[in-house]
Amino acid sequence: MFPIRLSARPTTPPPPLIGPEANPRDDDRTWVFPIAISGSLSHGGGEVEAEIAALAEGLDKAGEVRILPRPLRRPAKVLLAGIGAGDEAGWRAAGAAVSRTLSGVERAQIMLGAVEPSAVRALAEGLWLGGYRYRDAREEPRTAPVDLAVQNPEAYAVSLTRARATATATWFARDLANTPSSLKSPDWLAEEIVGAAARRAGVTVRIRTGPELDRFGGLRAVGGASKFPPCLVQMSWQPAAASKHVVLVGKGITFDSGGISIKTRPGMKNMKIDMSGAASVAAATLGAADLDLPVRVTALLPLAENAVGADAFRPGDVITHYDGSTSESTNSDAEGRLVLADALGYAVAELDPDVIVDLATLTGAAEVALGSGLAALFSHDDELAHALSEAGRRAGEKMWRLPLPDDYHEYLRSEIADRHSSPTQGAGAVVAALYLREFLGDKVTNWAHIDSAGPSWATESDLDVTRGATGWGARTLLRYLEDLTA
Ligand code: BES
Ligand code: MN
Ligand code: ZN
Repeated sequence: MFPIRLSARPTTPPPPLIGPEANPRDDDRTWVFPIAISGSLSHGGGEVEAEIAALAEGLDKAGEVRILPRPLRRPAKVLLAGIGAGDEAGWRAAGAAVSRTLSGVERAQIMLGAVEPSAVRALAEGLWLGGYRYRDAREEPRTAPVDLAVQNPEAYAVSLTRARATATATWFARDLANTPSSLKSPDWLAEEIVGAAARRAGVTVRIRTGPELDRFGGLRAVGGASKFPPCLVQMSWQPAAASKHVVLVGKGITFDSGGISIKTRPGMKNMKIDMSGAASVAAATLGAADLDLPVRVTALLPLAENAVGADAFRPGDVITHYDGSTSESTNSDAEGRLVLADALGYAVAELDPDVIVDLATLTGAAEVALGSGLAALFSHDDELAHALSEAGRRAGEKMWRLPLPDDYHEYLRSEIADRHSSPTQGAGAVVAALYLREFLGDKVTNWAHIDSAGPSWATESDLDVTRGATGWGARTLLRYLEDLTA
C-alpha cells in the first residue's frame, strides 16, 4: 500500500488560493480541503476558509471532488472533496474519491482541523480502499504519499493504525480473490496464508491434507475431481489475554465450475472469486493480530476446486460429514454448503467456540434477493446479528437480515440421507442457511451465517469499492472483533 502519513499542520495559514495576490508557495503537493454539506471546512484557516467556502458552493455530496487548477503556482492544484454530513461514510467516500482523482505519482496534503479520530480513520480507509490495485495488475501501483495535515498528529496515530489494518486486510482479500484460478489452487492459497501468517507474531497455521481429511467427506467429495487436491486451513490468533473465542469459517472454492451439474457460461465467468469468504476470514484474522486484539480467533478455511472430471462427485451421491451425519447431493453446484458443513461440524465438536460466524459466496439467490450492495445475514441470536450489522455499517459494508423459518425445514428432507443439500422449492439463500444450521448442534444460537455472493464482485468501481473482487467481509469481521474487545 502507498504511504499515508500524519504530519503537523503549519501554524501560518496558507496564502490566498486565487487572484493576483495568490503567492506561489514552495510546495509541490496538491492541497486537499474536505468540505462538509454546509460548505464549511474542517479546519480553521481564517481568510482562506472564507475563500474556499465560496469556491465550494454547491459541493454537498460525499465523494464529490472539485479540482481548482492554479497555473504557474505551487501547488499547481487544489482539490475540494465533499464529506457530506461528515459521518464516517462521508469521510470514507471523500478519501476514496481523492485517491481516484490523484495520479499515481502525485503527492498530496489533506488539510484537516480538529476532527474526530473516527474521521481520520474513515478518511484513510477511503484513500487506501479507493486506491487499491491488484498486485499483479499491469498498471503501476500508486507510490506517492498522502499527508494528513493535522494540528496534533499524536492524537490520530491509533486511527491511522486501525485504518491501515483494515485496508491491509481488504487488499489481501482482494488480491487473493482477483488471482486467476490457474494459479490459485488450494495449496497455493494455503501457502499464501501461511506466508502472511509468518509475517505476524502469534499467528499459527495448520494445514490438513490427504488422510487427515478422512472425516471431512464434503470437502473430499467437492475437491475430488480437481488435479489440485483439497485442504483445510486452520489459522489461530491466540493472545494471552483473550476473553472470548470466535471461530470464523470461510468458503474457499478456488474455482466453481458447478461440477457435473455444470454452470452456464455467464454463471461461471467470475467463479474464481468463490473463495472470497475464506480470503476475507483469513484477512480479518490477520488483522486481529495486527491490532493485537485480546480475542482468540480461529479461522477455518475448507479449500477445494469444484471441477468436472471422472473423479467428480455425482448428483445423487450421499456424503458423510465430519459430524457423522449424511447429505444427499443432487446438484454438485451446491458445493459450498458441503465443505462448510464439515468445517462447522469440526468447529462445534473440537473448538469450544463462544461465537461462530461463517462467510460464503453461497447462493446466486442471495444476489437475486439483495443485489450487489448487500450481503444476507442469518442468525437466531438478535444480539449477534445486531453486532455484525452494526460492525458492517460502521465499516462501510451493508447487510440485510433474512429469516431462518422452521416451516422450511421440511424442504431439506431426504429419503436416503439425513438431509438434502439442494432442495428446489425456492428461497435458495434461506434454504442454504437452514442447511448449514443442521451442523451447529448446541451452538446454533452462537452462530451467524453471511452470504456474500452479491457484494463480493463489483462490475464497476464505486468509491471505496474497486472493480473486480471487493474483499467483502474483511472489514466487517475485523470491526466486529475490534468491537468485541473495545
Ligand atoms: N458459488 C455459487 C454461488 C454464487 C453465485 C456466488 C453467484 C457468487 C455469485 C454456489 O456454489 C452455487 O452455485 N450455488 C447454487 C446453489 C443451488 C445449486 C442450490 C446457486 O446459487 O445456483
Ligand atoms: Mn456452486
Ligand atoms: Zn460455489
